[in-house]
Amino acid sequence: MAVQPIIEVHNITKRFKGLTAVKDVSFEVEKGKITGMIGPNGAGKSTTFNMICGYYPPTEGRIFYKGEDITSKPAYEYTKMGIARTFQIMKPLKNLTVMDNVIASAYFGTDPAKNPREAREKAMEILNFTGLYDKRNTLSKDMGTPDQKRLEMARALATNPELLFLDENMAGLNPTETEDAIRLIRRINESGVTVFLIEHIMKAVVSLCEKVIVLHHGEKIAVGTPDEVMNDPYVMEVYLGTKKEDGNA
Ligand SMILES: Nc1ncnc2c1ncn2[C@@H]1O[C@H](COP(=O)(O)OP(=O)(O)OP(=O)(O)O)[C@@H](O)[C@H]1O
Ligand SMILES: [Mg+2]
Repeated sequence: MAVQPIIEVHNITKRFKGLTAVKDVSFEVEKGKITGMIGPNGAGKSTTFNMICGYYPPTEGRIFYKGEDITSKPAYEYTKMGIARTFQIMKPLKNLTVMDNVIASAYFGTDPAKNPREAREKAMEILNFTGLYDKRNTLSKDMGTPDQKRLEMARALATNPELLFLDENMAGLNPTETEDAIRLIRRINESGVTVFLIEHIMKAVVSLCEKVIVLHHGEKIAVGTPDEVMNDPYVMEVYLGTKKEDGNA
């Protein structure tokens, strides 16, 4: 029997005044897997995430989470439902330490901490898991991009999500840091969390994702395994900016 997808998106469209950022897009995210979304700048990836995460509703279309219609649910209900996200522009509580940032998140989610002791224990566990333990007393504003990205993940994980959305979590990382991030995402997934990620770094997409959705000018132009989409002539033309026969992809 086919497993029910954790997310089903039916024909979503987002219009901002004159601009159609996302146009009639449909896809599914399978439970337990890592799904990726790629596409050139301005393709509508973050807008798609924002709609699924309740940041704003679609202009048209429906979104289902575990079979339930969540199209118009406000964002603050999401952590309780087991959905967590990171933002493309990182949003830590700048004047708090890394530890306190994670503690603050531990009070939300599917199994929120009931007291400071529980919140602290949860935070310690997450800081260890994400490799931030040694930085626990650093103010988040004093950290560099790689650690801030890691902290975004730690804060999301502190809410015990079933489904984690990562929007360009590897942007600005060097190759070693990228490898570390890939390993961490794989471990998060192995711990039972379904992951849906937007990523420009193809190496990460290829090594992590079982399924990739490609957007271009707000439209879904391909879906399949990384191999399938990377060899799709239309994807090569519009996404990589070259045709296969050019031989310079
Ligand atoms: N709140 C908004 N109001 C008006 N236009 C918007 C808004 N958010 C996004 N857009 C526009 O919608 C289009 C899609 O943007 P989006 O941020 O979803 O792209 P993206 O695929 O995430 O790109 P990137 O890879 O650069 O992050 C762009 O043309 C963008 O300028
Ligand atoms: Mg984006």
